[in-house]
Amino acid sequence: MCANVVTHSVNAGHVEQQRSAVSKPSHTGHSARPGPNRQLRRAVPAGPIPQMDRATLAELAPAGINSQSHWTSSGTCHYSCGGTRRRNDVATKVTCCDQPNEQRQASRFLRFSVLSFQILENGYTVIDDFLTPDEVSEVLEAGKNLHKDAPKEERKVFSTINSSKTQSRDQYFIESGDKVRYFFEEGAVAENGELLVDPSVALNKVGHALHTDHAVFNKITFSNRVKEVCWQLGFQKPACAQSMYIFKNPGVGGEVKPHQDATYLYTEPSSTIGFWIPLEDATLQNGCLHFIKGSHKSGVHRRYLRNPDKSSPELLVYDRPDPLYPRSNFCATPVRAGSLVLIHSQVVHRSDANRSDRSRHAYTFHVIETENSTYSSENWLQPPTDQPFPVLYERD
Ligand code: FE2
Repeated sequence: MCANVVTHSVNAGHVEQQRSAVSKPSHTGHSARPGPNRQLRRAVPAGPIPQMDRATLAELAPAGINSQSHWTSSGTCHYSCGGTRRRNDVATKVTCCDQPNEQRQASRFLRFSVLSFQILENGYTVIDDFLTPDEVSEVLEAGKNLHKDAPKEERKVFSTINSSKTQSRDQYFIESGDKVRYFFEEGAVAENGELLVDPSVALNKVGHALHTDHAVFNKITFSNRVKEVCWQLGFQKPACAQSMYIFKNPGVGGEVKPHQDATYLYTEPSSTIGFWIPLEDATLQNGCLHFIKGSHKSGVHRRYLRNPDKSSPELLVYDRPDPLYPRSNFCATPVRAGSLVLIHSQVVHRSDANRSDRSRHAYTFHVIETENSTYSSENWLQPPTDQPFPVLYERD
């Protein structure tokens, strides 16, 4: 049986109170109205990078941010309180133990290492209720509105199954690293370019600079809650390399084939962490994530690179064949809307096509280490030479 890693709840209201009292992130210090065409990127690198230390982050850490993540895989408590988990169910909020608050405070340092422990052990972890219901609604609304700005002609298709026929030959895709660009589902566009479905359900994804170019996604990506997670994962100077809004709409939402994120966003040494936030419940029926637990310990299986052969129509190429991953190795990970799934760059994961009548929208972005770690110049996605990836904070 595939037991998921432990989860915990975030007291988001508490975080919001602390956010305003402790730190004013430069990345969100604007009052721009939401909208994908709003050019916010210029404001991102202009402000000072927040200097974060443990004391500041301790204040930011909500009382419950890790209160349920101290379970070991055997169901006992990392805090050695003697408690045992009542239910081994990712979707159920359980309280680890009855530690009094003083004991929880005394265990604060240990809490800072638990997220790292879980990801290093399994390759991924889930935090329940990372976003508040209001935040989920705001981001979901912003995502649902994205299709209104999608191109009405020369629609580009994104497919992980037929990439050599679609995005790998497409300048529109290759240049999308610092732009908001729109990619349609393979089954939503006819050969003549006409839509086969309603425009509101035709998109596969929008990427890859929502975190800088759209106020709503910018606010979430550079929130103190995200910085807190990065801190707990040990990032010294994390930067956001890319962001995407994934639609996975009913009927047309396609499969994402098994892959490692390091195939696309390779750093040396490995540092990339994916933040994946479902805005609607992700279920077995509508295409939740599936992981091969522990597969992050098996290295990087292949990479997706800018093609050095400039005479080839293939602008992007894989350096090795597609590995075969038995489907029985995968562990389904259904999660509720507003959860945060943290994904190690080398853990193999996939999602099925959406065969339900309910959409599975999600916002996702990737954070890399920029201190003592190098982002590969061979990766398909490259930042403009004058605009490095925006930094979330620098640990002093
Ligand atoms: Fe991925």
